Amino acid sequence: MKIYQIDSSARKKGSTSRALAKKLLDKIKKPGDEVIYRDLDDEMLFVSGLTESGMNIDEKDQTEEHKKMFELSDKLVKELKESDVIIISAPIYNRREGLLKNKKAFLVITSGGTKLNSSEDFLTPWLKFILNFFGIEKVEVISADQMALDYEKSIRDAEAQIENISID
Ligand SMILES: Cc1cc2nc3c(=O)[nH]c(=O)nc-3n(C[C@H](O)[C@H](O)[C@H](O)COP(=O)(O)O)c2cc1C
Repeated sequence: MKIYQIDSSARKKGSTSRALAKKLLDKIKKPGDEVIYRDLDDEMLFVSGLTESGMNIDEKDQTEEHKKMFELSDKLVKELKESDVIIISAPIYNRREGLLKNKKAFLVITSGGTKLNSSEDFLTPWLKFILNFFGIEKVEVISADQMALDYEKSIRDAEAQIENISID
């Protein structure tokens, strides 16, 4: 069996989530099992301009930077696909409740297929929650969702929402 373990605490020493995940691993790991270990405190892949542009560039035209990035990305995907069990340890980090006062936030959210505020949309509620948590009570969403279904309509809707915005 292959076990994939991801730790993400910013603390290497004294981390409860790391210690508990290790206990869990020791409990389920059998002799002969392989453990693939990733520490997000050491390495983290973001969707960046490099990723985005790289996805649209033919492999033969990719720069060394693109190639290196995709090599790591492919390796991570392969490791995940080959795993039978995945352990993720993740502390909740928000803190600083009520830090920001008297502000209004606009969220401009776009999507390919996911409908905004549907049960698959975790982003919008999370962003609203976190902004509220920091003390920003007025949060307005402008959305161009489900662009893959009808791009023109999504953009028209979003532009109409922008047109109707009032900053007061
Ligand atoms: C920067 C920071 C922010 C945190 N924010 C929250 C929070 O908003 N809500 C919460 O319940 N716990 C919060 N905690 C507590 C952590 O979730 C808890 O201490 C966790 O065990 C930390 O992970 P670790 O022990 O693996 O390092 C925060 C801890 C840190 C260090």
